[in-house]
Amino acid sequence: MKPTVRIAVTGAAGNIGYAAAFRISAGGMLGTDQPVILQLIEIEPALQALKGVEMELLDCAFPLLENVITTSDIETGFKDTDYALLVGAKPRTKGMERSDLLGDNGKIFGPQGRALNNHASRGVKVLVIGNPANTNALIAMNNAPDLSPSQFSSMMRLDHNRALNQLSLKTRSRTTEIKHLTVWGNHSLTQYPDISHCSINGKDATSLVETSWYREQFIPSVQKRGAEIINARGASSAASAASAAIDHMRDWVFGTPGKDWTSMGIPSTGDYGISEGLMYSFPVRCRNGRCEVVQGLHMDDFSIDMIQATEKELLEERDAVKALL
Ligand code: NAD
Ligand code: LMR
Repeated sequence: MKPTVRIAVTGAAGNIGYAAAFRISAGGMLGTDQPVILQLIEIEPALQALKGVEMELLDCAFPLLENVITTSDIETGFKDTDYALLVGAKPRTKGMERSDLLGDNGKIFGPQGRALNNHASRGVKVLVIGNPANTNALIAMNNAPDLSPSQFSSMMRLDHNRALNQLSLKTRSRTTEIKHLTVWGNHSLTQYPDISHCSINGKDATSLVETSWYREQFIPSVQKRGAEIINARGASSAASAASAAIDHMRDWVFGTPGKDWTSMGIPSTGDYGISEGLMYSFPVRCRNGRCEVVQGLHMDDFSIDMIQATEKELLEERDAVKALL
């Protein structure tokens, strides 16, 4: 067995937090040889519900779960934590865009960034899930000057997994046969699910689908999948979001498989002409706990327009929260 690690989850009594806590405790995120202490954080009014989550976690008698801490105090919740999943935030409802949440949710992430800066393990890895995830991650990162920007990320893995699903249905292939897919930019309507470098069982994906399907059906369906789920469920995605968070952290820690890559919101250092500092989703390979943007991909005019449109939206979001940075 490895030495125990601490994992903080905010919003842990909410839908995504509830789904994630059990998967983490069962070893789905860090492996079945990794004992964990869960540090579950909620706002005061949800502490009683959080107690119920703690009781259920303990009732599972998970062999890897050494302890559960529940708190509404972020300094206690982030103390010495090795991993932080920042989920706690309002979800949107029918008819809203995720950026409409910025006013209410943005202010959560400055104090959390500062608490991580002052109390988390120096190697903490932070994943922001609460929407609008990219700009909330930008706020947290900017409030943690003693941590490296590379310790912060925002979740695009749900979009990536959604794109894999749509493409596998269309081409009657398994998702594991699809390689080199990217979702660029913002977790929003402007995201760019890009199959131009993608192969399926060694064949170019673009040769297996019609351009009209790719541009008029595939891209919009991935962009709008979150809203489609809200319309169907009456609540936003939860189990699929928790699953994507587990995938994101697992690949960050253990590495992306083989020569494939994944999509992660990470601080831009100017790759592909994207403004430095923006929390932007790139094609990313992870090795030894570090993430690197895949270099040298050829971008055609369509792709350039798409990656710039989603960058523009992130620049506007950054402007809207400049007082919080
Ligand atoms: P939910 O309402 O079920 O749960 C949110 C929980 O967060 C609640 O229990 C609430 O009490 C708690 N909370 C609110 N403010 C908090 C704070 N300051 N500190 C700690 N806890 C706090 O919502 P959910 O379905 O779990 O979704 C959570 C967030 O994740 C939403 O913003 C949603 O839009 C977002 N989301 C993102 C993705 C993604 O791909 N990035 C996917 C799905 C959902
Ligand atoms: C999603 O993509 O499912 C989440 O961001 C929730 C939402 O508001 O769409």
